[in-house]
Amino acid sequence: MIPPRLIFRKDRMMVLDQRLLPDRIEYIAVRDAAGTAKATRDMALRGAPLIGCAAAFGFALEMRRLKPGTSADIERLARRTAGLLKAARPTAVALFYAADRMLDLALAFAAAHPGKLSPAARGKFPALLDKEARLLTAEDEKACRDMGEHGAALLPRNCVIMTHCNAGALATMGIGTAVGVITAAHRKGKIKHAYSCETRPYLQGARLTIWELMREGVPSELITDNMAAHIIKTCGVNAIVVGADRIASNGDTANKIGTYALGVIARYHKIPFYVAAPTPTIDMTAKDGDAIVIEERSCDEVTYVKGARIAPKGVKVRHPAFDVTPASLITGIITEKGVISPVTRANVRKNLGK
Ligand code: MRU
Repeated sequence: MIPPRLIFRKDRMMVLDQRLLPDRIEYIAVRDAAGTAKATRDMALRGAPLIGCAAAFGFALEMRRLKPGTSADIERLARRTAGLLKAARPTAVALFYAADRMLDLALAFAAAHPGKLSPAARGKFPALLDKEARLLTAEDEKACRDMGEHGAALLPRNCVIMTHCNAGALATMGIGTAVGVITAAHRKGKIKHAYSCETRPYLQGARLTIWELMREGVPSELITDNMAAHIIKTCGVNAIVVGADRIASNGDTANKIGTYALGVIARYHKIPFYVAAPTPTIDMTAKDGDAIVIEERSCDEVTYVKGARIAPKGVKVRHPAFDVTPASLITGIITEKGVISPVTRANVRKNLGK
């Protein structure tokens, strides 16, 4: 079992500190939106769907703490809170989806209760926000389960599979997206072996994914990112599955840096390359991958490993945390609604029911 990522209480949210994994299981108490944004920025909590669920609860906690007295207070505070949460990280659209959904609910409540709030309305508002945050979490859990089923059905028996970064239970409130596909297929006896790329520089694959696969009893090995092509060529890898932080309306997919390289290698070796992501990951306002903002993180994450410097002092560094895999390299996008394949703008729309 993977420990709970978020534990909700009335006045706080306990966040599993993923920076300490796999060595220590410790929780941070978060009481407001600023604390949620900080935990997200600092990577204590990470993974696209998880930061969305946490933002929803951070929003609810903040509004409970501020106790708005009028509909105008709700409007002002809700807009400020959503803005604060959305500023935490730029690439994962789940964060924006969750913050906007909470904001819309708060604005609708304000519109329905104009002026000074009655004691009854004051009592109802926090409960309404809590309910919405719990609903969002339940939707994520179910989406993971459904993606697991759709994805497992795509994989052959004796599948040798590779994944990148951590798109597991630790990145969601359910069984995970890409790793959820692997564990669901494993339960059906379909997985012969799984490879987890370590995912430089933040090592989500080495610290988190391989730990999850080991805990789930999936036969697996950790490799460094630069071993991927060799392992695919020599070890019979017959599928790759990764998660996503944002998918443009044409299917171009932003995911952890290194994903694009795996897409290119998969095409060269003629093996299927799947993306597993719930539909809130699809950003219909993004025409294509060029519209996706790629987060650049601190150079220290590249030049230090566990506090030890590994590059010369004063070195110039680049650290794009994500890259975009073009739709043309993706065999299928697995959502909770089914599989988008071939990956075209029209099929993306169809999956969303639009
Ligand atoms: O920077 P991170 O650790 O938040 O990045 C996570 C990833 O890139 C995951 O692959 C992605 O969020 C999909 S999570 C189900």
